Amino acid sequence: MKGIILHGGHGTRLRPLTYARPKQLLPIANVPMSQYGLESIKEAGINEIAIIIGGNNSQKVREFYGDGSNFGVKITYIEQDEPRGIAHAIGLCEKFVNNEKFLVFLGDNVILRKLSDYASEFEKSSDSAKILLCEVSNPKQFGIADIFEDGSIKKIMEKPKNPPTNLAVIGIYFLTSEIFEIIKNLEPSWRNELEITDALQVLLETKKRISYNIITKYWKDTGTIEDIIDANKTILNNLQKYCNSKIENKSKITGNVIIEKNVKLNDNVSLNGPVIIGENTKIENSTIGPNVSIGKNSKIKNCSIKNSIIMDNVLIEINEQLENSIIGHNSKITKKTEKTLILCEDSKLEL
Ligand code: DAU
Repeated sequence: MKGIILHGGHGTRLRPLTYARPKQLLPIANVPMSQYGLESIKEAGINEIAIIIGGNNSQKVREFYGDGSNFGVKITYIEQDEPRGIAHAIGLCEKFVNNEKFLVFLGDNVILRKLSDYASEFEKSSDSAKILLCEVSNPKQFGIADIFEDGSIKKIMEKPKNPPTNLAVIGIYFLTSEIFEIIKNLEPSWRNELEITDALQVLLETKKRISYNIITKYWKDTGTIEDIIDANKTILNNLQKYCNSKIENKSKITGNVIIEKNVKLNDNVSLNGPVIIGENTKIENSTIGPNVSIGKNSKIKNCSIKNSIIMDNVLIEINEQLENSIIGHNSKITKKTEKTLILCEDSKLEL
């Protein structure tokens, strides 16, 4: 089987964070979110992966993943000129897929459940596709599957106005090469995109079998700031704690805390897990956590931070509390500031 990660699009809903890098490279627990997808694909036993790139700063994706050897996989990059839809992006991969079965992972989806058993079920089956479904409270925002009483799929539709079920189609699709002919004949949708949900619906209409599994473990489409902060919290909660620095003073460290190399904490620091602190970061007189990721080479002084993501090379020196915030790389926040802040990369805020 082969793997495909969708890493294109403009990430407009997450501006200004996405001006400087594709949204799929925004860090969750100090790891770019699409790396979770890559690890899931690898865990499913797939080593050959195509990454679809396009949109702002897509060279950063190549810089980060390279040829894949640092991640134990072989990566091919495929350029998409414009975000013309998920099905359009998949359609660009026909040659790469070379008639094998394949797994598509949307680079902004984060899932905790492993995929290897689904992948081997699909490999052995004669199904034309396998999709994963998850119950959601806001079904109008997703692809939705309607199910017959016998359990087979009745219809798959994109963001319906009146959703017949609350079963969202997760952005992880097991497909066969049959899909390419269908994609070639698709018409753009109301949002002017070639929709994967429309392609799946054509499979159903031509009496091809689509199997499905309902996921009950955590799944998130990280479409908003709140979603990213929520995914950060969940991933942090699921990491094993460790400490790679010598912490010899009286800082209070409780719960699930990960401390990377060369981190310095002074006596007045409390870390309330889950928390991750990146390499060479220095913290003084502050309370950090729960649910906080701090990147590398940052300096945090005199503040309290909860439910937030602080990226690399950030300076925060305030007598305030930051909550539900995302602070981009190289930002500086000094003196007083409001409780909640969203700053893009290279920002400088002095109050
Ligand atoms: O997350 C699950 C949902 O993903 C599904 O329930 C929907 O059926 C599916 O259409 C998709 O909906 P979104 O509106 O969330 O898709 P979005 O435009 O955010 O694109 C998903 C990912 O694919 C994102 O990482 C960007 C990338 N992408 C998207 C398009 C349209 C590309 O690489 N190229 C594209 O042309």
